[in-house]
Amino acid sequence: MAILEIVHYPDPRLYTVAKPVAVVDDNIRKLVRDMAETMYAAPGIGLAATQVDEHQQVIVMDISEDKSKLQVFINPRILQADGMQEFEEGCLSVPGIFEIVKRPEKITVEALDIEGKKFKLNADGLLAVCIQHEMDHLKGKVFVEYLSQLKQIRIKNKMKKRLRETM
Ligand code: NI
Repeated sequence: MAILEIVHYPDPRLYTVAKPVAVVDDNIRKLVRDMAETMYAAPGIGLAATQVDEHQQVIVMDISEDKSKLQVFINPRILQADGMQEFEEGCLSVPGIFEIVKRPEKITVEALDIEGKKFKLNADGLLAVCIQHEMDHLKGKVFVEYLSQLKQIRIKNKMKKRLRETM
């Protein structure tokens, strides 16, 4: 296993649209393992392949208290979305930034698991937020893009300052 480098906003690689996985093979399973290790090490509760510069539709997630429930979504698709909720979101690609985002409250998602088997899941609350946030990454979208232009500029400046300080 390996810890992968997480791409930070506003790196243009985060705007890449991920391709569907054609076959869930050992290469994909290795990517899933490395992404899970990277997410747990960060630590974070979700990671999309886009964030480690792999542009395939793969998401890992673990919202359990004791980090014992890894969830994997390959080629995820939202079949249904209802209601609206506001949640304070953060992102491993935008460290230190937490902002309220409005999203559908309940979703039904269909995806493939690590065996390539199709499954359907009803999600609400944090799980629904997390799935939608990570699916946005696969479409080349970062959560700060839901915020006002002014806020986006401020966050970009903050990220650039942070980058200079760590170099
Ligand atoms: Ni994110």
